[in-house]
Amino acid sequence: MKKKVLVTYKMPIEGYAELLKDFDVTFSKGQSFTEEEVMEVIQDYDALLSMFDFKVTNALIDKAKRLKIVSNYAVGYDNVDVNYCTEKGIQVTNTPDPVTQPTADQALGLIIAVLRNIALCDRKLRTPGALKWGLLENLGLSIYGKTLGIIGMGRIGKALALRARVCGMNIVYNNRKKLSKEEEEYYHATWLPFDELITTSDCISLNAPLTPDTFHIIGEREFGMMKKNAMVVNTARGPLIDEKALVAALQNKRIWGAGLDVFEGGEVLSPELLTLDNVVLNPHTGTQTFEVRHEMSVIASQNIINFFDGKEPVFRVNQLGK
Ligand code: GLV
Repeated sequence: MKKKVLVTYKMPIEGYAELLKDFDVTFSKGQSFTEEEVMEVIQDYDALLSMFDFKVTNALIDKAKRLKIVSNYAVGYDNVDVNYCTEKGIQVTNTPDPVTQPTADQALGLIIAVLRNIALCDRKLRTPGALKWGLLENLGLSIYGKTLGIIGMGRIGKALALRARVCGMNIVYNNRKKLSKEEEEYYHATWLPFDELITTSDCISLNAPLTPDTFHIIGEREFGMMKKNAMVVNTARGPLIDEKALVAALQNKRIWGAGLDVFEGGEVLSPELLTLDNVVLNPHTGTQTFEVRHEMSVIASQNIINFFDGKEPVFRVNQLGK
């Protein structure tokens, strides 16, 4: 009998071509399955292919007696209790490679949009009379020569460093593990203690996973320490920033601005953000390209195929005991 796979979100079928050859795959009929819908049927499935915004609760895992693998469609896996899955002998996998470059693009795009008032000017031009033309109007800040502080120097942080370097930025970073000397040279990046990175960076980019250690890693204390013209960019996970503290820092013009692809409340934004001109907002579209959606489907499928073939998944998150 074919193994059964449940995919929580409706995606173009082409990305699942390999999976469909040998597996019995269920896709949601609407845009996505709700947690309740998955809960009803999960006991019949061998694999769950979950999107990053689908909460794989421990209650769901308890119900999923046949489940052997959670193939998460994302690099981040804060929606899954990995330790609990390990305890239950369930493999967790993810899709880091396809998301690295587009997320770095998105971060750089937000940096430029915020420092150079790109979204603000676009918005004003569309409103008759809102934009003042003039050589000293709509002044932004130069990117060249500024210091970019990257918090989380993994794949995406490194890809951003390469881009920022081309723009003439100086790169500092903070990461639990320092890069090797060779890597630091390659990325032209200097490790700094966290507080020093906060006080010396012109632009602070969050590229770390969401864990208990990184929850609200930027809050009132950090905004208070930042340079007057500093900006923050978050393409990682919303709860890395204390959004209340961010709103206050933007309202008081304590900092220059912010570029946000993610929000503390997921799809629910602090309403104040919508009224502020010094923030650029995007609806978690860091990986949202035709190509990347396809590549993520292929890798998420291949993780499942490899696992049931007894091979190494393309990207594993946890190590199961033998
Ligand atoms: C997107 O947010 C991802 O984690 O891949």
